[in-house]
Amino acid sequence: MLLFRLSEPKPAAAIKLLVLLAACALLVSCSSHPYRNVSNSPDDYHIIPQPNQLAILKGRFLVNPETKIIYETGLAQEAKYLANLLGKGEGASIIVDERNASSGDISLTLDSTIQAEEGYELNVEFDGIHLSAKTAKGIFYGIQTLRQLLPASIEKSMAATDTLTIPAVRITDQPRYAYRGMHLDVARHFFSIDEVKKYIDLLAMHKMNTFHWHLTEDQGWRIQIKKYPKLTEVGAFRKGTAIGLAGTRDAPYTYDNVPYGGFYTQDEIRDVVAYAGARHITVIPEIELPGHSSAALAAYPQFGNHSGPYEVARRWGVFEETFAPTEETFAFLEDVLKEVMELFPSTLIHIGGDEVLKKEWKESAYAQALIEKEGLKDEDGLQSYFIRRIEAFLNTNGRSIIGWDEILEGGLAPNATVMSWRGVEGGIAAAKQQHNVIMTPGAYCYFDYNQIGGEAQKKDPLNGSNRVTTLEKVYSYEPTPAELTPEQTKYILGAQGNVWTEYMPNFEVVEYNVLPRMTALSEVVWSAKKDRDWEKFHGRLQHMSRRYDALRYTYAKQCIVQ
Ligand code: ACM
Repeated sequence: MLLFRLSEPKPAAAIKLLVLLAACALLVSCSSHPYRNVSNSPDDYHIIPQPNQLAILKGRFLVNPETKIIYETGLAQEAKYLANLLGKGEGASIIVDERNASSGDISLTLDSTIQAEEGYELNVEFDGIHLSAKTAKGIFYGIQTLRQLLPASIEKSMAATDTLTIPAVRITDQPRYAYRGMHLDVARHFFSIDEVKKYIDLLAMHKMNTFHWHLTEDQGWRIQIKKYPKLTEVGAFRKGTAIGLAGTRDAPYTYDNVPYGGFYTQDEIRDVVAYAGARHITVIPEIELPGHSSAALAAYPQFGNHSGPYEVARRWGVFEETFAPTEETFAFLEDVLKEVMELFPSTLIHIGGDEVLKKEWKESAYAQALIEKEGLKDEDGLQSYFIRRIEAFLNTNGRSIIGWDEILEGGLAPNATVMSWRGVEGGIAAAKQQHNVIMTPGAYCYFDYNQIGGEAQKKDPLNGSNRVTTLEKVYSYEPTPAELTPEQTKYILGAQGNVWTEYMPNFEVVEYNVLPRMTALSEVVWSAKKDRDWEKFHGRLQHMSRRYDALRYTYAKQCIVQ
């Protein structure tokens, strides 16, 4: 292959000759190009999420071992990602400087005239592909679109001799919502770094931009904190796990008595954050407080409301164990959050705030005296005080809090973002108070709910819930509540799918519950509302499932088969 560098001096005559030869080659190749006049049909374009504007053109672009990816400085990472997708390996056939683009090339360029931060324009013609965007992030999304214009077989590996063609198209695209998220609970069950990366790969393919990593829970503390080693030495392991659908069908509890646990070292966490960053995904860590804290208190009982004993929970549900609102606890939590901030560049830090039973605070002389001293109304007021203190600390460090909608109770902390999970009411209330909102209502966005329903659900070996959220229901979700004024709707930043893993003992079950519902959600948060069409989506999903197969993801096939 020839590589030209414009900076290299060449004799003028040689340059002229080269230009002439190139022009002749172009003429010959254009007129005789076998893919120039191929007609394409709508079925050649089955992209999820559906792009905003898509014009079908004549012709196909041939990808072959000589195809060059030409990229502008600043897009090296994206160019490499694309090269890998095309099976060409690290760095192969990549040259810098878009001025060298010529017939047969794929060029990636930044274009400041494109308005949308995450938008892109993709032009595929028989003799070249041009992808442009305002940011590298937009380029990345354009690459994901290009990926879906290629056959699913590219996901396995492309032999050097394979011929691949891409149907000509002109696409102008940008997301509807700025926040497009997926959550993963790694505390009820623990997943390896490779599994977490496989999850992040799925997010990337669906143009999701946020991974909410639920790292601490009653049943396990999963993030190494150097100042408090017992959080993982003690808090990351439980003595056993409740068997069956505990607390619902199979109550009373029985336990397997098999020790269970695991945690991520800080190096591993940095690795995941970098991996996600290369895919333009922000990782929001969640450190639960003041409830869901049994594992932390098993490690450091001095931060509880009583002297214990505490244990890392072995069953599911909501627990009374709560951090005590003492100065020692705040100092501890600030130390923890300092290490968290060093690991995660995300502006938003999730501080939980959900399902805090106030029983311990009601019975604690210290908590009651604090309510009195601070002039708080009640235990809800104390929860609000707790969250405000944590918020003030994070704000001082340039970060903001996000919490579950219970943080509305007793009064919202001044800059908090609210994650609305108990329906949409919390989100509506927060938007009316001019607070940012992420919508995750259980009925549409909880992917631990069963996805089949009816009789089939009972026979489903991978079923872990008696509540149902079907694929079609996810697809029907409208994140912006109708009761908000246009001004208030600006606070609805987007939506997220939540994956609670009480009944997902291994990653295969996670994949099964996430797919294809996450694919439906990706269209909810990306595509224009007017383009939402269940029948058409379901048709495109057939193609997407081939990609799941090629990538060896487990998924609910019964939701896809027509
Ligand atoms: C939650 O599902 N407890 C946020």
